[in-house]
Amino acid sequence: MKINVNYRNLSRFLKLLLVLVVFIVVVYSVFKSCWIIREKKYSDKSHSNQQKSDVTQEDYTQSPPTLESSIINVTPVPVINWNKISKSRLPWYFKDGLRYPERDLVDNKTGVRISKLWPEEHMLGDRVEEQLMFVPPHYKYENAPLKNILLYNDHKNWMIEDGQIEFLSNGCPVDRCKIIRNAKYLYEADAVVFRNNFIDYELSTSIANQVRIFYIQQSAYYTKLDNISANFINWTVSYRHDSDIVVPYRRWAYYNNPLVTQREQLQRNYAQNKKKLIAAVIMECDTDNGRILYVRELNKHIAVDIYGQCGDYNYVISDTFFKILGQDYRYYLAFEDSNCINYITEKFFVEGLGYDMLPIVMGARREDYELVAPHHSYLHVDDFESPEELSKYLFRLSNDDELYNEYFRWKGSGEFVDTRFFCRLCAMLHDESAPVKHYHNVIDWWRRPDACDHQPARRWKTPGENSSQPPEVRKQYSLS
Ligand SMILES: *[C@@H]1O[C@H](CO)[C@@H](O)[C@H](O)[C@H]1NC(C)=O
Ligand SMILES: *[C@@H]1O[C@H](CO)[C@@H](O)[C@H](O)[C@H]1NC(C)=O
Ligand SMILES: *[C@@H]1O[C@H](CO)[C@@H](O)[C@H](O)[C@H]1NC(C)=O
Ligand SMILES: *[C@@H]1O[C@H](CO)[C@@H](O)[C@H](O)[C@H]1NC(C)=O
Repeated sequence: MKINVNYRNLSRFLKLLLVLVVFIVVVYSVFKSCWIIREKKYSDKSHSNQQKSDVTQEDYTQSPPTLESSIINVTPVPVINWNKISKSRLPWYFKDGLRYPERDLVDNKTGVRISKLWPEEHMLGDRVEEQLMFVPPHYKYENAPLKNILLYNDHKNWMIEDGQIEFLSNGCPVDRCKIIRNAKYLYEADAVVFRNNFIDYELSTSIANQVRIFYIQQSAYYTKLDNISANFINWTVSYRHDSDIVVPYRRWAYYNNPLVTQREQLQRNYAQNKKKLIAAVIMECDTDNGRILYVRELNKHIAVDIYGQCGDYNYVISDTFFKILGQDYRYYLAFEDSNCINYITEKFFVEGLGYDMLPIVMGARREDYELVAPHHSYLHVDDFESPEELSKYLFRLSNDDELYNEYFRWKGSGEFVDTRFFCRLCAMLHDESAPVKHYHNVIDWWRRPDACDHQPARRWKTPGENSSQPPEVRKQYSLS
């Protein structure tokens, strides 16, 4: 009897289970087919422009632009990673990264660590990721002596706290360092950091093993520097790749393979609803590279709306402003104020890449952009013989959404990482194989003859016109 009841219960339970499973399957397939229809609609729409005949200027809205359009919130297409990235394999400096470095290996023959950290060891590239993943071979973790880093000047612009907090809170792999600001501890400092200038330092002071560091984050052309005595600086820190520690304005890092992209980028049409061609935001008219001359020349062939103090429309420049630009414009002129080696600022990384417009860049050399920008994410003015040639290519791109969308494939294949200067500085201070070095004249190094290209507008003078200009010697310092 007892057994009977149990059987009955069991069969009832199985029936219920069956009904439940059928229900789930039905709901799932209905949901899925709806989803496919939605996706299909989306990609159909995205290629609707392709059959259009040649796009010309007339197809686009002319100035003056209106900015009253509100921001449309695009519901993101579900992100499916092609390259299923396992967080445990991503280095720690990525947003979700969990991979921490081990102590560096030592070359059996030379007895020296194998990582290449210094410009002397690795000429091409910025060594940022190598430095972020560096732990000295004999590093003793909690027992390593604390290195004192004295921030000598410009205290208000260092947005960090005194003590070890900066290193601990950022999870630096090498965190045995301490920030100090009070110059009375000069003699205890393992490193002294001068930011953008060298003021009030007793130049005669020479302390054994102390590393004097020159930190500068301005255009090489527009820096004003006081005299500095010879052989004073040991290490340099700047955006330039020949600095000992490179601090770029932003730093793109791939998760894995630059050619692997997320499915989102294949479905979204970045040209959709864009009725305008080129936007530019220019605050300063009179710059070393004469960028405004190029913009004006370009404007003769293709409409450029110039915002900012040097432009025709002086709007308040904000994040919202850029979001609206990104909805309306296909292209953005990310022109720096000077053409200096490796000098690539937020103008490109934030304004250019951040708002779904294709950036057209002027500033550093083409090869500099290649090293730090996502693959196929911009156009460089040097790729075109003249503004007119550029305009022809832009019209072609405007007529081919597929080609245009190729320039947005990089999205989702990596991220902009925080390059954590102080983590890297701490690791480098603990490097037993750090080269003993100094700069004979750090200002000469900073202003090396080829640091900036001073021939503005050389690429867009009409043939025959004499475009050479005498090289400018800055008055703030003497070269000798
Ligand atoms: C050093 O030698 C050891 C064995 O002697 C070997 O296991 C190791 O891989 C070598 N390391 C390098 C970096 O060559
Ligand atoms: C910089 O040094 C040069 C040569 O030593 C000297 O002529 C010049 O006056 C100095 N400038 C300043 C601002 O100290
Ligand atoms: C720093 O430069 C001075 C020369 O001014 C040199 O004597 C010293 O050894 C250098 N220190 C390091 C750690 O490179
Ligand atoms: C350009 O100008 C410079 C300086 O004025 C002069 O020396 C040079 O001969 C000129 N070149 C041409 C091609 O006219």
